[in-house]
Amino acid sequence: MCGIVGVTGRDDALDVILTGLQRLEYRGYDSAGVVMDESSDRLRVVKRGGKLANLTAALSDESISGSVGIGHTRWATHGAPTDSNAHPHTDPTGRIAVVHNGIIENYEELQATLPDATFSSETDTEVVAHLVAREVEGGAELPDAVRTVLRSLDGAFALCIQDRDTPGMIVVAKREAPLIVAHADGVSYCASDVAALIRHTRDVQALMDDQVAVLTPDGITITDLNGVAVEGHAYHVDWDLDAAEKQGYEHFMLKEIHEQPTAIADTLRDRLRPATGPDGSPRLHLDECRIDEGEFGRIDKVFIVACGTSLYSAMVGKLAIEHWAGIPVEVEVASEFRYRDPILDPHTLVIAVSQSGETSDTMAAATHALDQRAPVLALVNVVGSTLAREADAVFYTHAGPEVAVASTKAFTTQLAAFLLIGLYLGQQRGRIYGSEITDILNRLHHLPGQVEQVLEQDAAIAELARKYASTHYTMFIGRHVGLPIAMEGALKLKEISYLHAEAFPAGEMKHGPIALIEDGSLVVALAPAGHTFAKMVSNIQEVRARGASVLAIGTDGSTADLKAHAHDLITLPEASHELASPILAAIPLQLFAYHVAVTRGEDIDQPRNLAKTVTVE
Ligand code: F6R
Repeated sequence: MCGIVGVTGRDDALDVILTGLQRLEYRGYDSAGVVMDESSDRLRVVKRGGKLANLTAALSDESISGSVGIGHTRWATHGAPTDSNAHPHTDPTGRIAVVHNGIIENYEELQATLPDATFSSETDTEVVAHLVAREVEGGAELPDAVRTVLRSLDGAFALCIQDRDTPGMIVVAKREAPLIVAHADGVSYCASDVAALIRHTRDVQALMDDQVAVLTPDGITITDLNGVAVEGHAYHVDWDLDAAEKQGYEHFMLKEIHEQPTAIADTLRDRLRPATGPDGSPRLHLDECRIDEGEFGRIDKVFIVACGTSLYSAMVGKLAIEHWAGIPVEVEVASEFRYRDPILDPHTLVIAVSQSGETSDTMAAATHALDQRAPVLALVNVVGSTLAREADAVFYTHAGPEVAVASTKAFTTQLAAFLLIGLYLGQQRGRIYGSEITDILNRLHHLPGQVEQVLEQDAAIAELARKYASTHYTMFIGRHVGLPIAMEGALKLKEISYLHAEAFPAGEMKHGPIALIEDGSLVVALAPAGHTFAKMVSNIQEVRARGASVLAIGTDGSTADLKAHAHDLITLPEASHELASPILAAIPLQLFAYHVAVTRGEDIDQPRNLAKTVTVE
């Protein structure tokens, strides 16, 4: 989604901003702009619809310098991605410039309080520049003006504001949208994502809701809406820049697919604490826990809330928790959760799953649960993200930065993490012995090697992708652990290749979807070894009889029936546990989607209309 980078105190501020915006490109955007405080008599604003390259081309025609500035990449919500709707927005006199991530829900109401104003964009943001200008023109200092305006805003925002008449200062504030600040070597920075800043510093502070930070070259002060000094959440970023570069791969998505053996090994690493269990065996632990761990032993119901790919990992999480902990689990799309009346109490655990830890709907679902006093466990990748900070407990996937919009390693590490969470809850409820956990973990440690084996089939999968790259309709089918992977396979294919793909429980086909099958359709059948295998073989025969080509995903040692009935077959190594098989099955589908999109010449890392972190509802 939108990205923000601000800097004050460097002569090369424009370069720092543009490089920072490049690092945020992965979040998805459709226009970009900068404001620079060149001199005491004017702010220079340059903005363009389209990619960052359009902005840099425009900037190369103008000579802009200055040691203070703000840059923005916009993902359109109110108004098309045009030059005039791009940020920064200014008041009519050009004194105040504002960039904004999020949505100001009451912007029309606020515009109505300025009956004489003329707005030059269709955005919900521009009114903020007008309102702040009104305050400073009335004599308020910039930080006070911003605090006053913030009190009138409804919605979600990370705002960054510059005043032509207050040189050297940037004022930033946030509510329900991430914003970090940092000060190093006489320079102050702000950004919506740490990736924009790690070139300059690794020690950052995340602002909390309704905090206002004043940035000058001398330092940063943070206050609440009443001007009382408060602290942000300070943390150190330990991943390095290399981890966020392509390292020779053609696309981030391919790099991240190939990072899965390491990422999964990192998820599984160091999860056992020595010998504190009643049977003297090691015990699993969470990364952070701010409530009494004993609470988890008293849980009698679990909700898992998430969006998109993370939601499909939640479906496997349900199977793992019900299997090992014996607790009923409901999986729910996060965007629906707070609009109904979920029955929550202190014995209901809500697991909020999110790669970014910033997804607005998942955050809102977690907040709803916390308000009802239900404990919230965050399963996240990004350390220090809002969800990780607000939850009662955190389990990190430790997958490293994921840059491609299409999630890959975040998904398989979530699957691995859910195995551990299922075992953890089983342990807390006394349903599983420590020795049994150790035994399962020992077997799970074979997973990274098995993932390597699947990745070795890359060239063969690319061949299949080329064969099926013009297929108009692809149906993914699966049962039990295969179903969430079928759904994820369909999502991966549609989001980067723009081909029509859907997933169904294989048993549901005869209740309607099989009517879609005709000559030229492709059915991708998830048929790993397990208790639903024979049923999958029957479903494969049914779709084949109706003209579909069938690409089956099976397991080494149980492929005879698949060879007999499917047109093509991808074979996976035998997983050490049936609940671990989705991790292996996801990988060929990621590669398949990737190679189909490459064959079709699509934009792999930044597919159309999509954003990496969805910070609006
Ligand atoms: C698909 C994808 C999205 C995300 C979803 C949730 O490849 O990446 O569906 O999974 O937007 O994002 P997080 O996990 O950051 O909450």
